[in-house]
Amino acid sequence: MKHSRIAGTGSYLPERILTNAELERTIDTTDEWIFSRTGIRERHIVAENEHTSDMAFEAAKKAIESASVDLQTIDLIVVATTTPDRIFPSTACLLQQKLGIVNCPAFDLQAVCSGFVYALATADNFIKAGAAKCVLVVGADAMSRITDWTDRSNCILWGDGAGAVILQATDEQGILSTHLHANGNYADMLTVPQGVSKQEGSKTILMEGNAVFKMAVNTLDAIVDDTLIANGLEKADIDWLVPHQANIRILQSTAKKLGMSMDRVVTTVDKHGNTSAASIPLALDVAVRDGRIKRGEIILMEAFGGGFTWGSVLMKY
Ligand code: ACO
Repeated sequence: MKHSRIAGTGSYLPERILTNAELERTIDTTDEWIFSRTGIRERHIVAENEHTSDMAFEAAKKAIESASVDLQTIDLIVVATTTPDRIFPSTACLLQQKLGIVNCPAFDLQAVCSGFVYALATADNFIKAGAAKCVLVVGADAMSRITDWTDRSNCILWGDGAGAVILQATDEQGILSTHLHANGNYADMLTVPQGVSKQEGSKTILMEGNAVFKMAVNTLDAIVDDTLIANGLEKADIDWLVPHQANIRILQSTAKKLGMSMDRVVTTVDKHGNTSAASIPLALDVAVRDGRIKRGEIILMEAFGGGFTWGSVLMKY
């Protein structure tokens, strides 16, 4: 079994919806400004007593059910998150406990908005190396917890949620290639400066929005080219683009680069906002469940985020 393939998908969004109209009441903004600059109309926000592992659990249950796998066959759990419940143990261990399984390795992976692409690439490599056969890969984030809700240029972007997939070893082709990159020289352009060993600076997201926007567009253009060349494919071979949902204008730019009409781009940013590591698996699950994405189609997933980190996964669904 040399390949890995997504056997099932699942997702979860918290019940509470925060609309642009509500934000108009708390900060100096308008629905028109937010929608025209970002494509966002509303986002979901975790309840006070709800944590990242709770969202991950709900998404994971659905992915396990849709893949029709026995819980006990899961032999690795990888959770991509920037907003873990605790400093330790990892959200992956808390998720494992909630699922009621033991012994399989479980760890978190932090690559901010690129987290799911990093986690999927990691799981794919575990499977290709023969170290795992059935991996639960989750992207889950409660970005609302690290958002300054008085910063109008920033708080309008973020939302909370979780998405999950079951990645299985198979003989058929599934994931065709993965491409991961980072450049730590840009650490200060998009950051939550305060952490654990460094206890100074802001505890909420700081971002040079304009600069991040330009870097994201250029970098994603380049990684789309790299991915196509690595696979000997043409733009027209891609059936669906399932991008990280940061800003509709970034999505439109990547679609234009691929010569794709927006109806081949899975877009959830209007209803979810930017859910960081959760955004790609959430979008994938939406399009699989509503019947748009079908078995055998070629899917390109790509993301750009804090670090900077960026990456892509090309797969046959
Ligand atoms: N409502 C009304 N006016 C606002 C708001 C708001 N919510 N926020 C900012 N403004 C004002 C600014 O004060 C400024 O006013 P001024 O010209 O009088 O100074 C004006 O609008 C323009 O501000 P800009 O910051 O230049 O607006 P821009 O068009 O760049 O949009 C945005 C800002 C939406 C943050 C954009 O830069 C962006 O989306 N950047 C990408 C960032 C991103 O997605 N980061 C996520 C992580 S990385 C990733 O996932 C790609």
